[in-house]
Amino acid sequence: MTPPNDIVIHPAKNVAGAVRLPGDKSISHRYAMLGALAEGTTRLRNFSTGADCASTLGALSSVGVGIRRSDEGVVEIEGSPWRAPRTPLDCGNSGSTMRMLSGILAGQPFTVELTGDDSLSRRPMARVIEPLTKMGARIEAGPGGRPPLRITGHPLQAIAYRLPVASAQVKTAILFATLFARGTTTMEEPMRTRDHGELALQAFGAELTRSGNRVTMTGGQKLRAIEAGIPGDISSAAFFLCAAALFPGSNLLLDSVLMNPTRAALLDVLLGMGCRISVVNLEEHHGELVGTVAVEGAELKGTTIAGALSAALIDELPVLAAIAPYTTVGIEIRDARELRVKESDRIAAVAANLRAMGATVEEREDGLRVPGSQQLRGAEIDSAGDHRIAMAFAVAALRATGDTLIHGARVAQISYPEFFTTLEALVEW
Ligand code: S3P
Repeated sequence: MTPPNDIVIHPAKNVAGAVRLPGDKSISHRYAMLGALAEGTTRLRNFSTGADCASTLGALSSVGVGIRRSDEGVVEIEGSPWRAPRTPLDCGNSGSTMRMLSGILAGQPFTVELTGDDSLSRRPMARVIEPLTKMGARIEAGPGGRPPLRITGHPLQAIAYRLPVASAQVKTAILFATLFARGTTTMEEPMRTRDHGELALQAFGAELTRSGNRVTMTGGQKLRAIEAGIPGDISSAAFFLCAAALFPGSNLLLDSVLMNPTRAALLDVLLGMGCRISVVNLEEHHGELVGTVAVEGAELKGTTIAGALSAALIDELPVLAAIAPYTTVGIEIRDARELRVKESDRIAAVAANLRAMGATVEEREDGLRVPGSQQLRGAEIDSAGDHRIAMAFAVAALRATGDTLIHGARVAQISYPEFFTTLEALVEW
């Protein structure tokens, strides 16, 4: 069922209950792409239900990969050689699809065009074009290195590369390209980003080594299919964690959530602000940590997020900024310039919507400072066509005075189609 595009959020009394989240988006993309290259049939349970990962599956079937998807969230992928698609590959809203697939397409013996929606067509692609071109691919892009991309694959050469921006998508694209390269790639990132690309390659049987922020991988390795359950998406869980954090006396249990240390920094931040958080039943599956998280809200203190922490929390910063007025001292976010080139300019979108709700906000080039002890009031919110903005302000609205109308709320389906239904079930109005 398609949710309505405008949704009203009423002020809430509390948040309580238990949730199991759909599979992590970052891992779903990577397992699907590697499954499409591996020998055998890859079987993935709890695959992401978001439109972004559907864009990846659509692109893979266009290059001839056999995919079956059941109603129970199981996706089966038959690894096979890829063939030239008859039409451009539509990546929809998904930067992950375009950037990570480019790594694989750079090594295929055909030419392919990658397109996206209006938001994706504004996003920077030079960051993947540069290293993949150095490896031997020919890539043409629109003005300013924006989509569409036209990639002519080629036998590739490994590279030694220092990433100019901290981006796990670019790191993964280079590692995926290395599967089709001669020699050994060494890559260094300016700060540690999510390591699902490395862990996924190892899960599918590839060898690589990691030391600090450096990854080394030899080209030409073959992959074997896997069976896996995908851990719940912690970036989707973030909205409920922050919702629960807002209500002293709340009690929320999130089952089987991804606890990879490169993704779980939000738990430390909420703990530091005063929430009670415990993690039990910690297990490892294909190198990824999974656990059950219990959270109880509190009076939140506020915090500063900067440097490597901003990179680690990049997808969680909109919701943290959206709840910042309810903290006692506020939240300052620095070193997060990347937020300006996400699905929307997330710094501008957060600042505009907080102001619409009556808050004072200081917007900066690389972040925001949101003073604390401010009471938000219900207002009209513009999602800016960005899933994380729509969900972040649904959370902020729970403690506002009066109703909040979120325009363009349907965009939540990009990562989490069930978000509003689950929120409704967890909230006491
Ligand atoms: C992702 C990396 C991050 C993140 C995106 C998913 C990934 O993007 O914002 O939602 O799966 O590697 P960047 O690589 O552009 O930082």
